Amino acid sequence: MLYIGIDLGTSSVKLLLMEASGKILNTVTKEYPLEFPQPGWSQQNPEDWRRAVLDGIPELLRGFDAAHVAGIGCGGQMHGLVVLDKDDQVIRPAILWNDGRTAKQVDYLNNVIGKEQLSAWTANIAFAGFTAPKLLWMRENEPENFAGISKIMLPKDYVNYILTGVHSCDYSDASGMLLLDVEHKCWSKEMLSICGISEGQMPQLFESYECIGTVKPEIAKLLGIPETVRVCAGAGDNAAAAVGTGVVGEGGCNISLGTSGTVFISSEKFGVDRNNALHAFAHADGGYHLMGCMLSAASCNKWLMEDIFKTTDFTAEQSPITPEKLGENHVYFLPYLMGERSPINDVCARGTFIGMTMDTTRADLTQAVLEGVAFAIRDSVEVARSLGIEINTSKICGGGARSPLWKTIMANVLNIKLQCLESEQGPGMGGAMLAMVACGEYTSVRKACEKIIRVSSTVDPDPDMAAKYEKRYQQFRKIYPACKELFACLAKE
Ligand code: XUL
Repeated sequence: MLYIGIDLGTSSVKLLLMEASGKILNTVTKEYPLEFPQPGWSQQNPEDWRRAVLDGIPELLRGFDAAHVAGIGCGGQMHGLVVLDKDDQVIRPAILWNDGRTAKQVDYLNNVIGKEQLSAWTANIAFAGFTAPKLLWMRENEPENFAGISKIMLPKDYVNYILTGVHSCDYSDASGMLLLDVEHKCWSKEMLSICGISEGQMPQLFESYECIGTVKPEIAKLLGIPETVRVCAGAGDNAAAAVGTGVVGEGGCNISLGTSGTVFISSEKFGVDRNNALHAFAHADGGYHLMGCMLSAASCNKWLMEDIFKTTDFTAEQSPITPEKLGENHVYFLPYLMGERSPINDVCARGTFIGMTMDTTRADLTQAVLEGVAFAIRDSVEVARSLGIEINTSKICGGGARSPLWKTIMANVLNIKLQCLESEQGPGMGGAMLAMVACGEYTSVRKACEKIIRVSSTVDPDPDMAAKYEKRYQQFRKIYPACKELFACLAKE
């Protein structure tokens, strides 16, 4: 049988067609626009996702026997607020995970309702990208839109709704709404009431690997697939990527270098970071995870390359950065181009180069960006270490993981072994694997991972280079505290 995995990302949807053995038969990418209507705001039109998925699937299946498709699973960008009216029409553009407009609402939630209370109800505190502060923002700024809400969904749930007509959400993605009691896997009545939302406006909750329904007859016809095709609930993209890299069960770690950068630590038991710097979410395997999320990771490099250097040849820009230069760069970069989530939780933080001199080169700036992202990922790894979690090895995935140089920098900055997978299609692969479980191809997510996931190579840290990077990291750590107040002043301009 064949399975379709959907990775509903921020810049594009990546579709893949997979056999139950894990062999990838085909991939299709469809891009869509991202709007920044004001500095720090980030929106997307759900209609673009719908069109990209419905156009992309027939293209994905061209040349294959579509009658053999058994299941579809989606891993999607998390936290985005999608609101539908009573006729299931989208009310306004989705407000995305990297949108920073809710500083006031986050302040209200964290400081008036209180972090302790939020953490007791939901296992998390408020961050600007989370869904609950966006609902408060909408109630305050767009009361008419707010009054028209019949259903609230997350991005991949909108795609699942288009495919099946079912309003669903899985626990991993729902965890990032700040509306879920993560430990007990049910909506938090207190949080719904604070946001002025009833349980009837929320989607039905499922485990990621559960079937939410089959495709609607008209969708089956449009896509050329059988009406029996099952759609699973799917997962937030990080949980789906963890499945797609085999990070399930107790104590696994995955680092994703996508538009965002995440450190994902899986666990069988529920646990909370006492300072809530890391998110405590449900996992797509039925367990839980802790996660640190930086808002701009591979997107910092893309910004420098495409918007500033006006090139698409990332490899050529990285080629002058030879091994002896690693750990020696005198330029530092704070990668906070969209503010920052973990661990500093500061919407006012901004991207910053520091330490340049007359002999600074273009390659030094490129190197500083790759290193700045690695240092910021290390900030989250250090929080995990402070909780007694040992991280000596991690899987790595996402577009940034295609750069051997970046992987070497990451391994040495974090001083850990990085395992690269045969395929770095994390979320799409995880989505297809969740669909396999929903179709009974495997009895559990863990069993699917055991059969399908293969490590292809490992990047080991080098003791001398890691020692040099240790010194650089200790310098890097001083830069944000020195700029913090200034960032807050600049944000008021
Ligand atoms: C995770 C997060 C991002 C998005 C990116 O909390 O906000 O990783 O899911 O798509």
